[in-house]
Amino acid sequence: MAMPLVPMLLVATSSPSQTKAVAAAIADLCVAGDLLLLMGDLGAGKTAFTQGFGAALGITDAITSPTFTLARRYEGRLRLNHLDVYRLEQMSEVLDLDLPELLDGNTVTVIEWGDAIAPALPADYLELRITFGEGDDDRMIDFRTVGPRWAARERRLSAALAPGTTSTDDAGAGPEDGDQC
Ligand SMILES: Nc1ncnc2c1ncn2[C@@H]1O[C@H](COP(=O)(O)OP(=O)(O)OP(=O)(O)O)[C@@H](O)[C@H]1O
Ligand SMILES: [Mg+2]
Repeated sequence: MAMPLVPMLLVATSSPSQTKAVAAAIADLCVAGDLLLLMGDLGAGKTAFTQGFGAALGITDAITSPTFTLARRYEGRLRLNHLDVYRLEQMSEVLDLDLPELLDGNTVTVIEWGDAIAPALPADYLELRITFGEGDDDRMIDFRTVGPRWAARERRLSAALAPGTTSTDDAGAGPEDGDQC
């Protein structure tokens, strides 16, 4: 039986600022209720990505790793819930959270090591996997859309991530799935 096609996008970066710029392009596509799961080994750049993502949402507070706090919340164009579920006890604390409440409202939620709790999350998110490249500052970022929210934005996602393009071609564009801001 033919396997369903899993859409995948791959982007290479060679500095933290490039990873933050990629994150900013993603943030520009985000709407209320979005969920991003960030995967990648220690030091891969999940928090760096979140910093670029938050800056593009207009967050001016410093975004720091929530490794020992489980979750931090920042106010921007959308409220950012930034979680890190690296430690087992944090994972169980997240499962104690009211996830529908967390994802509700004018928020976007980014979860580092989110695949660990994916079964407890709505199957409707953008998954990013950051891996190390050859040079110290080289990274590869794999994007995978899961569920309808991001599937509806795949074309815009590809355009935003394509080298040499900007996200301005989508500025003010109408919704593709009816829930875009
Ligand atoms: N291309 C790059 N993209 C992102 N970060 C990079 C890149 N090159 C070097 N770095 C550095 O790698 C480190 C990434 O750290 P960061 O805290 O973001 O990782 P993390 O994946 O969140 O780790 P942890 O699992 O511990 O939370 C930073 O020191 C950053 O400056
Ligand atoms: Mg981190």
